[in-house]
Amino acid sequence: MDILGVDIGGTGLKGAIVDVRSGELRSERVRLETPKPSTPERMTETFMELVQHLDWTGPVGCGFPAIVRHGVAHSASNIDKGWLGQNIEALFSKASGLHVAALNDADAAGYAEMDFGKGKGQMGTVLLITIGSGIGTALFVDGREVPNTEFGHLIMHNMIAEHYVSNSARKKLDLSWEKWGKRFNEYLHHLERLLSPDMFILGGGISKDFDSYQKYLKVETPVTPAKLLNNAGIVGAAGYAYRRLGGGA
Ligand code: BGC
Repeated sequence: MDILGVDIGGTGLKGAIVDVRSGELRSERVRLETPKPSTPERMTETFMELVQHLDWTGPVGCGFPAIVRHGVAHSASNIDKGWLGQNIEALFSKASGLHVAALNDADAAGYAEMDFGKGKGQMGTVLLITIGSGIGTALFVDGREVPNTEFGHLIMHNMIAEHYVSNSARKKLDLSWEKWGKRFNEYLHHLERLLSPDMFILGGGISKDFDSYQKYLKVETPVTPAKLLNNAGIVGAAGYAYRRLGGGA
């Protein structure tokens, strides 16, 4: 079955049609800039542009960069505060006339990696970390998800961890791979002490640069870049919509 997967981030809105049984993309991958300000109204317009560009009329899964409970946004760190309390599913469904299922963006990437990527068949505690405008996390225990974990918001050096280690922080402060890699290593150590995980999977745009910073990561837990790299969010969002429609894992 094909479903449109959409991955909304603080800087870009990406989407493609996904074969949810294989996790393969069935269309080009479209990327549009996240509007500024990223108000519900303007984001809905960009969402519609993507749907129309792909000429899509079927179900949609949408990863969203916030705490998402029952389709409603409950935080807004990297998006317009106007999203707080907004029902993402209702807004996007009304505009498109399509069935839309929304979840946290990191949770979406986590589902994709557990279904088709590095987490496949992995028991124990797996933490996927997406590194982009913010830091998102998805926690799996024996293959089952604990949704909406927000470990990007732990406090480090008196600041929110994502302000210290996100890709935006790396770019803003013009950090070398060594400087950023050492910061990220500190963050992983912190998580290791808190969760004793069996595996860390790194997603988001920076996962493709793994070779540049791998040598600075000294934690005991195995660390691996996501197999689906930057497409994990798209594939996982589509897979989530499939689950919500009653499809199997
Ligand atoms: C948000 C998370 C999101 C992450 C990645 C954070 O700022 O609080 O909900 O998963 O950014 O987009």
